[in-house]
Amino acid sequence: MRIERLFPRRVIVTGAMSGIGRATAQMVLDTGGRVLGVDLDDSAWSAPGFTARTADITDPASVAHVFDDAAEILGGAPDAVIHCAGIYRFKSLLDLPLDEWERIMRVNGTGSFVVAQAAARAMEAGAIVLLTSIAYASGDEEEPGAAYAASKGAVVSLTRQLAVELGARGIRVNAVAPGVIDTPMTTITQNEASTAAMLAALPARRLGTADDVAAACLFLAGEGAGYITGAVLPVDGGYLAS
Ligand SMILES: NC(=O)c1ccc[n+]([C@@H]2O[C@H](COP(=O)([O-])OP(=O)(O)OC[C@H]3O[C@@H](n4cnc5c(N)ncnc54)[C@H](O)[C@@H]3O)[C@@H](O)[C@H]2O)c1
Repeated sequence: MRIERLFPRRVIVTGAMSGIGRATAQMVLDTGGRVLGVDLDDSAWSAPGFTARTADITDPASVAHVFDDAAEILGGAPDAVIHCAGIYRFKSLLDLPLDEWERIMRVNGTGSFVVAQAAARAMEAGAIVLLTSIAYASGDEEEPGAAYAASKGAVVSLTRQLAVELGARGIRVNAVAPGVIDTPMTTITQNEASTAAMLAALPARRLGTADDVAAACLFLAGEGAGYITGAVLPVDGGYLAS
């Protein structure tokens, strides 16, 4: 395999203005690709080869509008869509109002469906990478997040179903399950004692970085992962193993 085929060349990245999405977009640029970045706002950063567009991932019309322009912006149909946009909230079950449950399910669950559907329409072949979380597989007493965990479980089920459904079209679908990553989303880092206790028990003994997750996204999006579909790849410093 030629080394440049390890990296996707024409990539749509959602959530591209912050955290993991931003690191992923930057890594695609660094490896010679072009990026169409999608987020609620498009003003946080810019770079050659990077085009930012605004869309709310829960709104199919606004996502379709952006994806319709992808081939022109990227110089061909996208060969990868890496869906990083999402939200994190936690609240104990007894205090969790229905509208907050529905909001989290809508952004993380329905948003993944909306983006995956637009991706399947825009792509000829390639890879879709969705972002789940260790929360899909592991409960959390300190930051109870029933809605977040369930929404990320939906992403895993969606990944496996779409891998089967889109395989014959040459589209692979995989998910990355980050652990505790140092981004603006992460809240445990506001509590030093909790962070220290978590890290003492974590095989990697450190927080993850946005680049740790971006590298996994790029691997799954490139042809080095050409025989991998329907997989969930933890990028968690060993959290789920321990
Ligand atoms: N940071 C972590 O520790 C961690 C752990 C596990 C999973 N994840 C997942 O990784 C993904 C990226 O997280 P992050 O840490 O980079 O978060 P982040 O908050 O830094 O970035 C998320 C981005 O998504 C965008 N976004 C939110 N709602 C949107 C909407 N409706 N439409 C369009 N864009 C929207 C935000 O504007 C933001 O730029 C998320 O799906 C998150 O659940 C993160």
